[in-house]
Parts: sequence; C-alpha cells; structure tokens
Amino acid sequence: MSGPSYVDEQGLATRFGEAFGREPEGMWVAPGRINLIGEHTDYNDGFALPMALPHSLTIAAARRTDGRVGVRSSRFPGAHEFDLSGLAPGTVPDGAAYQAGSLWALLDEGHRIGGLDLLVDSTIPAGSGLSTSAALCCATILAATGLYGDEPAPAEVARLAQRAENDFVDMPCGIMDQSAVMLSDEGRALFLDCRSLVTEQEPFDLAAHGVTLLVVDTKAPRRLVEGAYAERRRTCENAARILGVRALRDVTVDALPKALAELPDEVTRDRVRHVVTENDRVLETVELLREGRPREVGPLLTASHVSLRDDFEVSVPEVDTAVDATLSAAALGARITGGGFGGCVIALVDDGRVDSCTEAVRSAFSERGFGAPEVFTALPSKGAHRLR
Ligand code: GLA
Repeated sequence: MSGPSYVDEQGLATRFGEAFGREPEGMWVAPGRINLIGEHTDYNDGFALPMALPHSLTIAAARRTDGRVGVRSSRFPGAHEFDLSGLAPGTVPDGAAYQAGSLWALLDEGHRIGGLDLLVDSTIPAGSGLSTSAALCCATILAATGLYGDEPAPAEVARLAQRAENDFVDMPCGIMDQSAVMLSDEGRALFLDCRSLVTEQEPFDLAAHGVTLLVVDTKAPRRLVEGAYAERRRTCENAARILGVRALRDVTVDALPKALAELPDEVTRDRVRHVVTENDRVLETVELLREGRPREVGPLLTASHVSLRDDFEVSVPEVDTAVDATLSAAALGARITGGGFGGCVIALVDDGRVDSCTEAVRSAFSERGFGAPEVFTALPSKGAHRLR
C-alpha cells in the first residue's frame, strides 16, 4: 500500500557522482510527519502531538571550496547555484529557497559553514502537507553543520529550520513540523509544549493494541494555503490581544464562555473556540496514551476534525469525504492532519478494518468524482539523523 520509506542510498550516491563529479561525503535523512492531534495550536503557544512518518527525505552532500552552493533534486529537473556570501531573503528563487534559507539562518547566527553541493531525494508524497519543507530545511542544516563540524542540538536545528521558513521563505509557520522532524522517536508520539518547548515521548505502540493508523492522501490541490494560514494566525493573535493574554494558550476551557463573550465577531469566536478546545483535546489524548488506552483516542480525533472543519474552517470537500468514509467503515476516529486546505486525513482503525476503510474511501472518492486518493499505513518513526 505504501512505497519505499527510504531513498535508495547507493542510487543516490551514483546520481550525486553524475551531478557533481565526485563522491558525497555524507548523507542525512529527515522524515515527513503527521500530527495526531493539536492543529493550529503551535503558533498559539499551545500543545501538539505529532509523530514522524517512515517516509523521508535524504540529502547527499559534499563540501566545496568556492563558497558556493549547488542544489539538485532527483525529483525535479534543473540545477540551482548561489553564493553563500550576500544571501538574504528574496535573493534565491523558489527551487532552492528552503536550502538557501536554512544556510542563511545558520550564517546569520554565526555558525561557521562553507560551500556545499547538495542532492535531494524524497519518498514523502510531495505537496500533501506532510512537511516536506520542514524535512528539507532540517536535512540541509544537518548536512551543512555535519560537514563543517559545528552541530547544533536537535531542538536548535528545529528552531533554525523554522526561522528559515519564517524569515527567508516568508511562511509564518509554528514549530510543530520541525520539532516532529527532529525530535520524534520510533513507536512514540511527541508531546510538544509550544511555549516552553519541553517535549515528552508518549507510548504509541499501535501493533500491541491491534490498531493501525491509516493516512489518506486526498491529493486535493492545496490552494491559497499560505495566505489563509497567515490570516488564521493573525486572527488568533488579534483575539489574544483583545482578551489581554499573551497567547490563546492562556485561555482555559472553563474560561472559554467568558472569553467568547468579549470577542467582537462570529469568525473570531469560532477560531478561538477551536484553539482552546483543541489544546484540551491534546491533553486528554496524552492522558489516554499514558494510560495505555490508545484505542480510546478515536472520538477526540473526530472531534478535532469537526472543530477544524466548522470553527477553524480549514477543511475541503475531499478531506471531509475521506473522514466520513472511514468513519462509516467503522474507523475509531478520523481527522484532517496538518495545516489543512487539502492534504491528508489520518484514521485510527482496527487492524481488521484496514481494507474496508481503504475501500470505503476509494469508492466515496469515485462516487464524488474526485481523483483517486493514495492510502497508506504509518508507524511512528525515528527523527532526522545521519545515514552515513
Ligand atoms: C502547518 C504549519 C505548522 C502548524 C500546522 C497546523 O503544518 O507548518 O506550524 O501550524 O500547519 O497545526
């Protein structure tokens, strides 16, 4: 049901030789992620519970002595080259902006790195909201700092990668994706407090409990993602200002009715209701995982979806169709995962229901006239690391 998780190392080394005329000095791998629960909470100083996917992105790299950076990708034709000196937001075209932004963030903060050749390949389905961009930034930072012997701690790599997206690529994302890429552990879900940046590894042994996590890549075109994302973020920050709190994290579920009464319009009230209740759902989910009751998180996942669909308004028809189809085929719970406006759905299903849930999604998509979705299973996997 799913393709290979890792890029073929030997093949990548061969292609690196063809592209750059020498051997790579090292390879780094960074996974994609899904978020179990805790959506649009990271930039509100709240809680999230992501995990790394087995699908990953690999960078083969070698140093060069002329202070320039060469970038190729096995997935896209064409080559990019830019100078490290004088790197600034807006100076590097789209094709290499994530790599350039990552190196810029390192240089801007005094890390001693030099020229590089980078070849990227990936098994993360592109454009599906599974954090290819965070994986790309993290792997670039690991490659550059690994080759030049100046390696930051994993949480620091996550922060630098977020800075690359925020300040160079101009995507105002939170820290959830990069943390998932860097800090995830096999068989665990990563509980992330986005204010203190304290993380905890929570037990998530699906097989031991007879459940499977299905990922449905709806392939719905992700339109207006960045503008709508930035607009959601502004609404939340504005609501926090009106309520006189540092961030929406500071509004508890008990205080929600009073907070809602102070907000000026329906849309702001809806957005705030989502964030406050979502933080609570993350805490409840973590509690259930700690008690060894992962099967029981299903209703929380579905409640999160309803909140993201109706209050935060980041769903699309393909996504709702996938959620409804898995639930009608007896999934324990299902929700959109990631920023939204398209992308993927996750469903927690009994092992014996994997085929019927998959079939239910496929036939619902075909009945609605949507393109065929991709369905695969996901096990919580290891965060980014050096391959060789
Ligand atoms: C995107 C962003 C994250 C987070 C999610 C929504 O993936 O990159 O920082 O805000 O959306 O939870």
